[in-house]
Amino acid sequence: MNYNIKIEKTTNPKVKPDDSKLSFGKTFTDHMFVMDYNPEKGWHDPRIVPYGPLSLDPSTCVLHYGQGIFEGLKAYYTAKGDIALFRPRKNIERMNNSCERMCIPKLDEDFIVEAIKTLVRLEKDWVPKAPGTSLYIRPFIIATDPFLGVHPSHTYKFLIILAPSGAYYPGGINPVKIYVEDKYVRAAQGGTGYAKTMANYAISLKAQEEAEKKGYVQVLWLDGIKRKYVEEVGAMNVFFKVNGEVITPALNGTILPGITRDSVIAMLKHMNIPVSERLITIDELVHAAEEGTMEEAFGTGTAAVISPIGELNYKDKIYTINNGSIGPISQKLYDSLTGIQYRKIEDPFGWVVPVE
Ligand code: PLP
Ligand code: COI
Repeated sequence: MNYNIKIEKTTNPKVKPDDSKLSFGKTFTDHMFVMDYNPEKGWHDPRIVPYGPLSLDPSTCVLHYGQGIFEGLKAYYTAKGDIALFRPRKNIERMNNSCERMCIPKLDEDFIVEAIKTLVRLEKDWVPKAPGTSLYIRPFIIATDPFLGVHPSHTYKFLIILAPSGAYYPGGINPVKIYVEDKYVRAAQGGTGYAKTMANYAISLKAQEEAEKKGYVQVLWLDGIKRKYVEEVGAMNVFFKVNGEVITPALNGTILPGITRDSVIAMLKHMNIPVSERLITIDELVHAAEEGTMEEAFGTGTAAVISPIGELNYKDKIYTINNGSIGPISQKLYDSLTGIQYRKIEDPFGWVVPVE
C-alpha cells in the first residue's frame, strides 16, 4: 500500500458552525479522504480533496443493489487540549468483516487508521469544543462498476467524511422511549445483521417511521424467526439491569458487534458489576418490569453513547423503567466512558489514541 496521501486543499473554506448549536451529522468539514480500487492496482491513489459531490454513472452498482458498507467513530477534543480517537482499529477490523460479507476487497487496517489521523489532523479546527460534542467520522465504501448485472463489482471507492456533531438524540442523555418491534424484522441467521452494510439501515426505516408516529425514537428488534429473543435497537446495542445483574444479547451473527458494547462489558467487569451475554427473551424482560426487578435499561453506540431507556412499549402495553429517569449504572457508565474519551479520567484500558 502506498502510504503517501496526496493532499489538495480547498481554496474556499466554509464558515464553521457554532459548537453549542450542533446536531448530529448535518454539517461537513472542508475536506474528505478518497481512495479507489480496481483489480489491477488494488486499493490505490489515496488522496485528500475538497469536500464535494461525487460524479457517478446512473448505472453504478451501489445505486441499484446496495453493495456498500460504512463505519462510525469519533474524534474528541480532550480535557488535555489534544484530539483523540477511541479504539479506531476496532472500527476498521469491523469494516473488514463487513467487506468480507459484502464481497468487497479488504483494507489495510494500519493504513486506514493513518488515513483517519491524517484527515482529522488537517481538519483539527473543525473538532468542536462544547461539552458533549465531537467530530463524527464516517468511513464508507461503495461499489462503482457501471453494470446492471447482479454480481460483485470489480471497482470500489472508499471515502471518509467528517461531521462536527452534538447529541444523536435531541434530548441528549435524557431517557429514550423504545418500541418493541414484533411485526418487521431486521436480520436472520445467515444474513447480514453483523455487518455494517447499508441495506440493514434501509430495511429498518419502515419500522422506525411507524414507531416515531407513535412517539418512540427507535425500535427494539426481536429475532427474525420467533420474535421471541431481544436483539438490538436501531442504532445501538442494548443492556438491561435485572435483579442486580447486567445482561445483554450475545453476539450470534444477527446483531452488530458494537465497539461501545464491548467497552461497556469491559468497564462493568472492571467495576466488579456482574454482566453476562446471553439469549434474552422479551417475555423475561416484560415479566421483570411487571414484578419490579427491571432496574435499568440502556443502549450503547458511538453516536448514541450511553442512552438510558425510560420506557418500552410491547404489544401496546407500556413498561416504565426506573420511573423514566437515568439509573445509577447508566450514569456511571456514561461518566466513565465519556471521561475516558475526553481524557478527563485515566484510561486503564489503553483505548484512547491521540491524533498526534
Ligand atoms: N447496532 C447498530 C445497528 C448500529 O448502527 C450501531 C452503531 O454503530 C451500534 C449497534 C453500536 O455500535 P458501536 O458501539 O460500534 O457504535
Ligand atoms: C454510529 O453510532 O456510529 C452509527 O453508525 C449509528 C447510526 C448513525 C447509523
